Amino acid sequence: MYSRIAGTGSYLPKKVLTNADIEKIVDTTDEWIQTRTGIKSRHVAAAHETTSSMAIEASRRALEMAGATPADVDFIAVGTTTPDVLFPNVGTIVQTALGIHDTPAFSVETACSGFVYALSIADKFLRCGESQCALVIGSECLSRIVDWKDRGTCVLFGDGAGAVVLRPAEQPGIVTTLLSADGKYRALLNYPYGVSSGFEKLRAGKPAAIVMKGNEVFKVAVNTLSRLVDQTLAKGGVDQSQIDWLVPHQANLRIIQAAARKLALPMERVVVTVTEHGNTSAASIPLALDTAIRDGRIRRGQMLLLETFGGGFTWGSALVRF
Ligand code: ACO
Repeated sequence: MYSRIAGTGSYLPKKVLTNADIEKIVDTTDEWIQTRTGIKSRHVAAAHETTSSMAIEASRRALEMAGATPADVDFIAVGTTTPDVLFPNVGTIVQTALGIHDTPAFSVETACSGFVYALSIADKFLRCGESQCALVIGSECLSRIVDWKDRGTCVLFGDGAGAVVLRPAEQPGIVTTLLSADGKYRALLNYPYGVSSGFEKLRAGKPAAIVMKGNEVFKVAVNTLSRLVDQTLAKGGVDQSQIDWLVPHQANLRIIQAAARKLALPMERVVVTVTEHGNTSAASIPLALDTAIRDGRIRRGQMLLLETFGGGFTWGSALVRF
């Protein structure tokens, strides 16, 4: 028994912030942002939008493409760094909004790798026959935790959501997934404001911001992703020449280009959305996937490599026969 992607969906807030808009907020230039990151614009959630509201819309679209109804869904997993509230988890909020009851519903907090972690967990449930229809979501409202006075980070992030519906299949489908993490890199990328730690600063109204040593994150990301590509191909028994599309986490165009070089893939076979979406953390892969499926680039039967790297550090990948 395997699982396969039966449908995808995504949601982006209407409000778009271009680099020119950001030039008015912090001391930066469109040229700096594009050269260093590839980003031209990003979507930003309106006040009434939340991580769950975006996840719900993306899920509806994924279910529609899969020809499934909420009543079919028996498993909900969400990757997010920016849950609406600490609890109930985003999975249960989505569950209730879609009128689903009495199923597992949870979120995983592995930063940008959240969607791939959730996908890997859901795949296991389908493979062992415990799920017949899983909803796997990545959704983020990063604009709410970004320090809009910090030019080193505020130019990078965006909001949005993506979702996939997994159904059982006799052939893969999801060929293999690979998950990993190493907490020793915590100091390079973190958001040190939470519940049992860092809460005093938030309560005191002090500015909270993502802490990032961008340059060092960049180097570890490129090296780790290069290793991950080799490990994933070996685990899945797939040769790099069989990969039709690389669907990477959209953090930085230069990191994506390095991964493409590693696979000897021309950029025409890499799905790039960071230019218009910015880095939407756990939402970036399902958003990119849905974009390329709906515009006809990714077609049934093609082999996809999904790969991600994020805060923790966490990383992961999936080889998928679409
Ligand atoms: N506009 C203009 N100048 C800026 C800006 C800005 N927005 N931000 C920083 N600078 C300046 C710095 O102050 C520095 O100036 P200095 O040389 O006078 O000190 C100079 O630009 C160079 O700064 P670096 O940080 O060395 O620039 P770098 O080339 O490394 O690019 C970037 C920064 C884009 C953040 C890059 O390091 C990167 O993308 N790293 C990876 C980060 C990443 O992927 N994070 C997300 C992964 S995890 C997740 O998704 C949650």
